[in-house]
Amino acid sequence: MENNPIKLGKLYGVGVGPGDPKLLTLRTVEVLRDVDVIFSVVGVNTKNSISGGLVDSVSGCTGERVPLMFSMAKKMSDREVCWQENADLIIEKLKQGKSCAFVTIGDPLLFSTYTYVLRKITAKLKKLTVETVPGITSFQAVAASQNKAMVEDKQILAVVPAWTSEVVTDQILEAADTAVFLKTYQHKDAILESLKRNNMDADIVYAERMGLSEQMITDDISEIQARDNEYLSLMIARKNSKS
Ligand SMILES: C[S@@+](CC[C@H](N)C(=O)[O-])C[C@H]1O[C@@H](n2cnc3c(N)ncnc32)[C@H](O)[C@@H]1O
Repeated sequence: MENNPIKLGKLYGVGVGPGDPKLLTLRTVEVLRDVDVIFSVVGVNTKNSISGGLVDSVSGCTGERVPLMFSMAKKMSDREVCWQENADLIIEKLKQGKSCAFVTIGDPLLFSTYTYVLRKITAKLKKLTVETVPGITSFQAVAASQNKAMVEDKQILAVVPAWTSEVVTDQILEAADTAVFLKTYQHKDAILESLKRNNMDADIVYAERMGLSEQMITDDISEIQARDNEYLSLMIARKNSKS
């Protein structure tokens, strides 16, 4: 008897942009309408999903919707277990021949759970076809709102995951002309101090929940300091701004 190998579904890693449904790309919308299953990330405590909400804004998505919860535990091994469990759920659908989209805010290849899960999936399914659909990143949307160059000519851009204040080193700030700080929520004061020390405090923009209804943007340092911690927040600082 002839062997009948399973025909795997295709996996898409889909960026849905920072929050404004108008910043979904045409390819993202096309994929979301086409796939059999759409996986989105939900918060452990909130059950809210920004990426899921953006999928809701697209008409004509008929795929099964599967929310995935990811541990934010300090121990990497705990997170790893969670990536594997969620990867296995996706693998199960792919093995049924279903096309699957894993949606992420911003771009899927920029500090995203997608890349951890993707590695787990491709470790088990070597012949899987994968398409990563880029999304507009959170910081591109914030920069665009300022109508100012992020970098020009020979300038250097640093993108810093400021989840601890130690990550924001003088060495990085010396090298960069413009620095983007993601995950700023617990360390705004430490970042602002580092910027001052490195003469980067004259041109700062801070944004919370960019593209969502509660969006807030300010360049006023005392206002930044007064804000409560917000996970969806970032800062951009320029050293040699021309305008
Ligand atoms: C896990 S990273 C995800 C980055 C995302 N993949 C991207 O391309 O922007 C989460 C961090 O991105 C930033 N972020 C994402 N969406 C945002 C938004 N709508 N407004 C402000 N910051 C946002 C925040 O710094 C947040 O802590």
